[in-house]
Amino acid sequence: MLVFKTLNEWQQWRSQQSITAVRSLGFVPTMGALHAGHLSLIGESLAGNALTVVSIFVNPTQFDEAGDLNSYPQPLEKDLALLEELQVDAVFLPSSEQVYADNYRYKVSESELSERFCGASREGHFDGVLTVVMRLFNLVQPTRAYFGEKDWQQLELIRGMVTAFFMPVEVVSVATLREQDGLAMSSRNQRLSSGERKLAPAFHRILQNANSASSARQQLNAAGFKVDYVDDANFDQQKRRLAAARLGNTRLIDNIPLESQAGTQPHE
Ligand code: PAF
Repeated sequence: MLVFKTLNEWQQWRSQQSITAVRSLGFVPTMGALHAGHLSLIGESLAGNALTVVSIFVNPTQFDEAGDLNSYPQPLEKDLALLEELQVDAVFLPSSEQVYADNYRYKVSESELSERFCGASREGHFDGVLTVVMRLFNLVQPTRAYFGEKDWQQLELIRGMVTAFFMPVEVVSVATLREQDGLAMSSRNQRLSSGERKLAPAFHRILQNANSASSARQQLNAAGFKVDYVDDANFDQQKRRLAAARLGNTRLIDNIPLESQAGTQPHE
């Protein structure tokens, strides 16, 4: 497995790769602290492409709270060992100085969807996400890029950006991976105390079972979550319930399809 820590080395290697429809390049951008959810994205890329590249970059511009950025887990050695085991072809570890050599004077922003849901309380978050994803796409030039459905709003915005800017990348979405008790896998789960971890699966259960977004909101608040939002919304004729809530200092997000559950709406 090749590990690239500088832009120069990366760009040199990338320029030597001839990528075609047959020799395709799958890309999985991550912020590290890899868990089974990431591994399923990587598995899809390995199965569908000749080469798989994973980036690990804790992107400072998408954090709206300094505390969240400073406490973001960064177990790099463990991540690299996992990627080696999976037989990923290359890992790209750019530095912030290299990715943002312009001091973030240039950015990508979207003016509708990015203002709603998570964007309503996380100012600048999606500008940071879209900007880093565009920069990484330009550096990696993948055939396909893989994103998890847990971050549904992020996935929709990235798809929209790729379409709006005619970017030659296929965005592949991968279903949310859950713990046995239903909690969506996330790097932030490791910050939950043992009491919070016991309560956390109620987040998905309530979203799934409540018969309306407002009922889910009430039930979550009553169960001890501090709800940011629960909303039912249409995305390309697909209705989903999106939610974010805090347990202690940890912010959880999740979403569920509403109409594909055997054609029924959630029930109480
Ligand atoms: O989903 C994530 O881990 C990040 O938002 C991403 C897409 C790697 C951009 O930093």
